[in-house]
Amino acid sequence: MDPAVLRDMRRRFVLMAGEYAERLGQRREHIVLKRDHSLRVHALAAKIVARESISPPGPYLAAALVHDIGRFSQFERFGTYRDDESVDHGEEGADFLRRGDFLDAFDAPVRECVIEAVRLHNKREIPAGMDPLTKSLCVVVRDADKLDIVPVVLSRLGAAGPADGVVTLGLADEPGAWTEAIVEIVARGESPAYGDLHYINDFKLLLASWGPKLAHGASRRIFAGRGYLDRLFALLPLDDRFAGLKAHLAAGLDR
Ligand SMILES: [Fe+2]
Repeated sequence: MDPAVLRDMRRRFVLMAGEYAERLGQRREHIVLKRDHSLRVHALAAKIVARESISPPGPYLAAALVHDIGRFSQFERFGTYRDDESVDHGEEGADFLRRGDFLDAFDAPVRECVIEAVRLHNKREIPAGMDPLTKSLCVVVRDADKLDIVPVVLSRLGAAGPADGVVTLGLADEPGAWTEAIVEIVARGESPAYGDLHYINDFKLLLASWGPKLAHGASRRIFAGRGYLDRLFALLPLDDRFAGLKAHLAAGLDR
């Protein structure tokens, strides 16, 4: 694919985010947050496909760019990024892409795979039996997405003052509290559901659990290299259980 086509797609995406931001006035920062997240996920996907020698990269870069396109209308309509309190933003994005011409640079079958990857990017599990391109797109987008959500949340958690409720999902900000069942789920090598989180510390555990579950070795190496595990556990209470859990997750990153 001609790089100019992808550049145009990126430009159009940024313009669209700008229109939403303008309409949202004071709440524009939440649109900017998702715009910047999308651009970073796009860049991360480029790294992953290059390091894993996945070709051609075009559909992956496009899917990563638009994976959260449903976020804009979700936030404008509902004022939240919580899918359980509004709409499923993967479905919202897929519907938008299916109605419009955003992906017209691709042949219809590839376009359909990109849209399907957008629809599925936020589901807890990806269904079995998908066609190979949709699955491969989905896996790269989900890896890149997780790799960027971690630093976004980390930067907000590290900031002075009360936590930003939109980023931390309105979870209880009690520095010494966590949910024991969440620790057990993560220790088993699973990831808790968003709906099971109660405290911000539970959210940190969820983010940490993602590292070893990243599908591509290139993704796990980025997670390790950027020190996300250290940074997340540095923000959790000092407790022997967390030290053991961190070592366990670090070993999983090395697999
Ligand atoms: Fe998303």
